[in-house]
Amino acid sequence: MKNIKNICCIGAGYVGGPTMSVIAQKNPHIQVTCVDLNEARISAWNDDNLDNLPIYEPGLAEVVKEARGRNLFFSTEVDEAIDKADMIFISVNTPTKTYGEGKGKAADLKYIELCARQIARVAKDDKIIVEKSTLPVKTAEALKSILHNTGNGVSYQILSNPEFLAEGTAIQDLQNADRVLIGGDDTEEGREAMQQLVNIYASWLPKERILTTNVWSSELSKLVANAFLAQRVSSINAISELCEVTGADVSEVSRSIGMDSRIGSKFLKASVGFGGSCFQKDILNLVYIASSLGLQEVADYWEQVILMNDYQKHRFARKIVKTLYNTVADKKIAFLGWAFKKDTNDTRESAAIYVAEKLLQEQANISIYDPKVKKEQIITDLENLGTLDPEAIHKRITVVSNPYEAMKEAHAVAILTEWDEFAAYDWQKVYHNMMKPAFVFDGRGILDLKNLTKIGFQLFSLGKSNTAVK
Ligand code: NAD
Ligand code: UDX
Repeated sequence: MKNIKNICCIGAGYVGGPTMSVIAQKNPHIQVTCVDLNEARISAWNDDNLDNLPIYEPGLAEVVKEARGRNLFFSTEVDEAIDKADMIFISVNTPTKTYGEGKGKAADLKYIELCARQIARVAKDDKIIVEKSTLPVKTAEALKSILHNTGNGVSYQILSNPEFLAEGTAIQDLQNADRVLIGGDDTEEGREAMQQLVNIYASWLPKERILTTNVWSSELSKLVANAFLAQRVSSINAISELCEVTGADVSEVSRSIGMDSRIGSKFLKASVGFGGSCFQKDILNLVYIASSLGLQEVADYWEQVILMNDYQKHRFARKIVKTLYNTVADKKIAFLGWAFKKDTNDTRESAAIYVAEKLLQEQANISIYDPKVKKEQIITDLENLGTLDPEAIHKRITVVSNPYEAMKEAHAVAILTEWDEFAAYDWQKVYHNMMKPAFVFDGRGILDLKNLTKIGFQLFSLGKSNTAVK
């Protein structure tokens, strides 16, 4: 068996960048090159100032510092990296299709196909291709067909190795993964290729956590894992509304059911809705696959997870409008948080975007503070919705770098992301500087309900019945 000496990863995004950094850190004998078409992204990965890395992830800068220039490289020379590599990870984006058949549901595989064609064009010796992107079940078949029909005698093994890292904890998740999943063909060559990839992970993870399966189980397991996680969030969010009208408290319900070891305590935090680049996209993909195979009941079952999530975001926005005497027109609403969760600068599908959309349609002025998200990103997120007048966005959105400024003279504060610092603010001072009555809408359940009520706030916290705002 030829030892892997050279790895290339196509796509230096939220998955490719951190994953390759950790693989390089833990395998100093392997040269790892992460390539991307996006020049700005690559030059940020190569920036001497580690604060300028394109992705904010706790612990990432330290790993990059250790491995970059030693055996970790970032480059835009895609052909050269493909040519040199024994193993090629494909970690490009697979967004929801915005056109044609399957629009709004199916995964758009055009970037994956482009990678396969580029590999087919460039490769001169045998390669192991690793699907790192999240893909519909059976994609490996399409890759095989593109790669095997080039007639240049190069042979390929295709492995599925989905990534389970969560943003904000990516480095910790990679360094201490619950499991690594590797799918491959049940042939001698397939098993050998799987073993090569097992060896790379085994340099830091116990062997029992490295699971090998057939390719289709591996591809499908990734979609199913995300669907199950998102389903828990939608389930607890559905219960949050029931709590508000019955006198129950959603955090007490979560704790009570979570102590049942069959249910488990994680992913039971009620929120203004899940966001991120994965959950919605992957469930829509699952729904599309089921429905294309004629399994309509299966498709409808999983689609409900998305419908519940949309409902939760809209319900939160409606609660703000209704509470503020049915009008937010020209009122100042402060947003604390824009990222889809804490400890990341990623805003893809963040609930904040949709709550802002609704409030802007009601002509509110929104003042936003997020510790890691820049103004240009917020404006782009709102413009990309395509439902808002760009002039109104610029007129009504203010982005500030001081949270107290965001909340000064505001009619209401809304918590959209669970950044730790929000709970630690001087809420007495915030109250003093706000318009009265001073409303706070906690979409993440992080504030001290009793303390804020004592200060004088009119507080609404998702899933709690004992709030001032009903
Ligand atoms: P991303 O958009 O951050 O990064 C993808 C990168 O691929 C981009 O920088 C893009 O320029 C590059 N790219 C696209 N086509 C290319 C090509 N032909 N050649 C070179 N570079 C190319 O996306 P991401 O969040 O890293 O996600 C990548 C994949 O991993 C997706 O399939 C996603 O579903 C999956 N995934 C994401 C997460 C997550 O937390 N973000 C977690 C698990 C799995
Ligand atoms: C998710 C999966 O967790 C990860 O395994 C996969 O590889 C990519 O998709 P990510 O989207 O980065 O990761 O973050 P995650 O922690 O799963 O949170 C997703 C969304 O759900 C966030 O908006 C988060 O705030 C929300 N959430 C999560 C809740 O509202 N309540 C919870 O209890 C947990």
